[in-house]
Amino acid sequence: MARYLVTGGCGFIGGHLTHALVRAGHRVIAFDDLSSGREDNLPPEADLERGCVTDGTHLASLAGQCNGIVHLAAIASVEAAAANPRRAEAVNLGGARNAVAAAEAEKIPLVYASSAAVYGDAGSRPIAETADCTPHSVYGQHKLKGESTVLTLGPRATIIRPFNVYGPRQHPNSPYSGVIARFISACLAGETITINGEGLQSRDFIYVSDIVRLFVAALSREPAAPFTMNGCTGQAISILSLARAVADTCGTGLDLRHGPARAADILHSCGDPQRAFDLLGFRAETRLGDGLAETVGWQRPVVQ
Ligand SMILES: NC(=O)c1ccc[n+]([C@@H]2O[C@H](COP(=O)([O-])OP(=O)(O)OC[C@H]3O[C@@H](n4cnc5c(N)ncnc54)[C@H](O)[C@@H]3O)[C@@H](O)[C@H]2O)c1
Repeated sequence: MARYLVTGGCGFIGGHLTHALVRAGHRVIAFDDLSSGREDNLPPEADLERGCVTDGTHLASLAGQCNGIVHLAAIASVEAAAANPRRAEAVNLGGARNAVAAAEAEKIPLVYASSAAVYGDAGSRPIAETADCTPHSVYGQHKLKGESTVLTLGPRATIIRPFNVYGPRQHPNSPYSGVIARFISACLAGETITINGEGLQSRDFIYVSDIVRLFVAALSREPAAPFTMNGCTGQAISILSLARAVADTCGTGLDLRHGPARAADILHSCGDPQRAFDLLGFRAETRLGDGLAETVGWQRPVVQ
């Protein structure tokens, strides 16, 4: 049994990860300021420590009790980071630096949640980790700078670049929610789904329990070398097809309108999953249809 510090442990991914670690017999300190996370995302066995990742002293004091850190806490939205870039820099980049300092002081491993946003428009399909990183957004720029800091830990550093994560407990009511949560919410409420542009842009959606398995595998690995890897399925679906699949799963009709295309929207984003398989034997297993069914099942009572 080990004890892990999970920053952002009350968030969407953090809550699922904490449940998985507790189920595996580990102890978890969830470090969170509850700005977007919820205490009820945690299992009762986890310890909640309220605090802000900009407070390096607080983080470091907890790392001393732990065998590893998973750093998830962030302003986890491109739009929210753009709306307040100073705060985003303090939390997303400053928080990463503090997590690195805490891991360095205790000589423990750190698994860092970066993002596919670091690639910008990589041009290649699927996008391998060797692709050029030219992030379009402030959010992606901070994640990329955070990666450089994390790599200073050497072999104890693991960087995961999740693509689009979806699943139960991703909250549908914020303008910053993931597209699947928003589409489900609209269908269940009988509202119109608005797609930016024609909807031909495509994305690689990975189910939350799959990305959690990748984080757990990364945390348990032998620290032989620094790893950077995508968290993806290797399959992409257009936003238009996704809207149809969501409506089918909800059992509702599809009421769709097309809004203006977003200027900086990347057309296609699909990750190459090969490196995560080669390094950790990881493959995403959940088919989109099954993941959507689980997510709709969770969201139905929340929306109605
Ligand atoms: N969900 C996705 O599709 C996705 C894709 C790529 C990368 N990521 C990254 O994965 C991580 C988790 O994302 P998520 O979807 O679970 O987001 P989330 O918003 O649900 O979780 C983030 C958590 O961090 C906490 N937090 C925010 N600012 C904090 C601060 N200053 N101090 C302490 N805690 C703070 C929030 O309260 C929340 O519990 C983030 O780093 C995000 O950038 C997510």
